[in-house]
Amino acid sequence: MEDFVDAFLLEMKNKRDQKHSTFTSEYTIKQLIKTVSDVFVTGTETTTTTITWAVLYLTAKQDIQARVFRKINAIVGKDRLPSLQDKHYLVCTEAFIMEVLRVCNIATVNLPHTCAVDTKLRDFDIPKGTTLLPDIDSMLFDPEIWGDPEEFRPEIFISEEGTVTKQEEFIPFFTGRIIFSTNYSITFSMRSKNPYEIN
Ligand code: HEM
Repeated sequence: MEDFVDAFLLEMKNKRDQKHSTFTSEYTIKQLIKTVSDVFVTGTETTTTTITWAVLYLTAKQDIQARVFRKINAIVGKDRLPSLQDKHYLVCTEAFIMEVLRVCNIATVNLPHTCAVDTKLRDFDIPKGTTLLPDIDSMLFDPEIWGDPEEFRPEIFISEEGTVTKQEEFIPFFTGRIIFSTNYSITFSMRSKNPYEIN
């Protein structure tokens, strides 16, 4: 087995006789095509741009690069790949990634959302059906939350105890049903009408 498509096809084969499995309905192949196209459309430009920013900041901020490198070297070493178990010990690295996601936010204006019910938000009446464009930057660059928001400071995500802190205003992946965690084990649920939930 080489990749996601192989795993998906294998699962379809294994579940062939199960009536109520999500892998056996008529939508299954369509679902596979949609999922693969989602990965290409939404998953390539986002990550490449973010990684490019990360490399730029590592180059520009040599002291941060040295700190991140020293820690990875000490915890992971050179003989194996990092794993999620290491994450707990790689506080500087996680804080660095979070600060890249905050400062280099790629989704300044988020995808459009439709207001599902008549809503009152502060002084605004928002009728059902209104198209909303959430402004993620207004949260990620709010000086009341981050102090000097233009400044690249991974330490804003490190508590006094030396652990990673996640302020609720940190929303580079936005909020709600589709949330990616910064540990990069990407978890996403498709829209509710979709018969297949991927978790
Ligand atoms: C740095 C990396 C990424 C960032 C900052 C990012 C950010 C976002 C944001 C802000 C949204 C809109 C959420 C909403 O409106 O509720 C979104 C949607 C989405 N993202 Fe990402 N994303 C990233 C990487 C990825 C990757 C790697 C994948 C897939 C492999 C992916 C798949 C999706 C999908 C399927 C949607 C939903 C699109 C829709 O509602 O039609 N994203 N992402």
